Amino acid sequence: MSDKIGLALVGCGGISSRHVDAYRILQEKGDTSFELVACCDPVVANAQETAAVIEGFQGKKPATFSDVDGLIDAKLADAADICTPHAFHHSTAIALLGAGLHVQVEKPLGLTIKASQAIIAAAEKAGRVLSIAENVRRCLPSRACTWAIREQGVLGEPLAAHIQEIDYQPYDYTNPRLKWRGSKLMTGGGMLMDSGAHFADMIQVLFGDVDEVFCTMATHQPARITGLPKLGDIDADTEDTWHAVIRFKSGMHVTWSYSRVFRGDQVRLGRYYGSQGTIDDQGFAFHCFEDGGVVTRPDGTEQESKEIEAAYLASLSPEQEQHLFPLGLTNGFHIEVYDFLRAIRTGQPVEMDGEAAIRAKALCESCYESAVARAPVRYDDVLSGKVSAYQDPINDFWDI
Ligand SMILES: NC(=O)c1ccc[n+]([C@@H]2O[C@H](COP(=O)([O-])OP(=O)(O)OC[C@H]3O[C@@H](n4cnc5c(N)ncnc54)[C@H](O)[C@@H]3O)[C@@H](O)[C@H]2O)c1
Repeated sequence: MSDKIGLALVGCGGISSRHVDAYRILQEKGDTSFELVACCDPVVANAQETAAVIEGFQGKKPATFSDVDGLIDAKLADAADICTPHAFHHSTAIALLGAGLHVQVEKPLGLTIKASQAIIAAAEKAGRVLSIAENVRRCLPSRACTWAIREQGVLGEPLAAHIQEIDYQPYDYTNPRLKWRGSKLMTGGGMLMDSGAHFADMIQVLFGDVDEVFCTMATHQPARITGLPKLGDIDADTEDTWHAVIRFKSGMHVTWSYSRVFRGDQVRLGRYYGSQGTIDDQGFAFHCFEDGGVVTRPDGTEQESKEIEAAYLASLSPEQEQHLFPLGLTNGFHIEVYDFLRAIRTGQPVEMDGEAAIRAKALCESCYESAVARAPVRYDDVLSGKVSAYQDPINDFWDI
């Protein structure tokens, strides 16, 4: 084995192509610490296509595998970047960690709290790096707005936030990338568990610990899914609509609602209120501040996103800047793969470890548990696994 980190991609679909692009950028910037050695996907054409893209910039074609057992037996890789549907995060991560590989897992960590706990335990037992590929919190605009709210106090005391996305966009379940997203057993939930995972992370980065959650949800538009790998033909059972109220331990309240089946004009709102001002998200509100935020002060004056970013960057020491934006990278995907490799190389902690990831996961699960219980749930009870009625059948099905 060479002294480079041999990296395997496990799951070569949509988001994996963003990771591949990030590794390409790192190599272009002169990072010679790693080599992409393997692509693994049960859809062999996906693995082969990804391997061909990598050969195009790396000059060397990764080997292809149709399952992680074959990948492990080949002993080619030191580390793996997992981008599978949620149902396979725990099984692939635990097998790879058990074989001594370092692992990065796409969000959300595991399919359920129990699956996430099992991944964390496997990493601890193996003594290997476990990193979560959460891109939103790491990009420049999100880091800058987090600094403005937490360090600069632009809101004063944070009081409340209204987060709403209503956009008529039913899923086309003939698309293989969407099929699995209609099944609870495959995703652990719907959009709330998918893009909602970014929001669940960021809202806790911004405002700290959650106390209690109340949520209702529905699947208003029935749909049939055919030929779903492992499950066959099923009725879609993930939510297309939800309404949640989240109370933080600080006393702050957040309302969070979504529908992709309500007709009418698109509604996109990400507004945060404090005693000294407000901040408006400029993009998709579940990816908090990925496209920046605009602060409005009580006198009506505004601070634009670019000003916030400039002030934030000016506040960093050269060492902080190099750590947070290594090689001058400002894109969250680029930074997350760099962070994973840096942790393997140097032993430094990753930015998003298993504990941070399970906290994000527990907020999403709190919404599902509340919807099933038709009552508010304590976040800590969901995090600890004490409340799990929604997740129990999912754990039973996959023997978690
Ligand atoms: N960070 C982001 O912004 C973002 C965006 C989209 C998806 N994601 C996450 O990325 C992951 C994958 O989502 P996607 O959109 O790429 O899905 P996708 O359906 O496009 O790709 C998944 C790939 O995994 C493969 N696969 C299935 N089972 C496998 C197994 N056991 N071993 C190896 N490969 C397997 C599939 O064949 C497919 O090629 C999910 O965790 C999702 O939440 C993150």
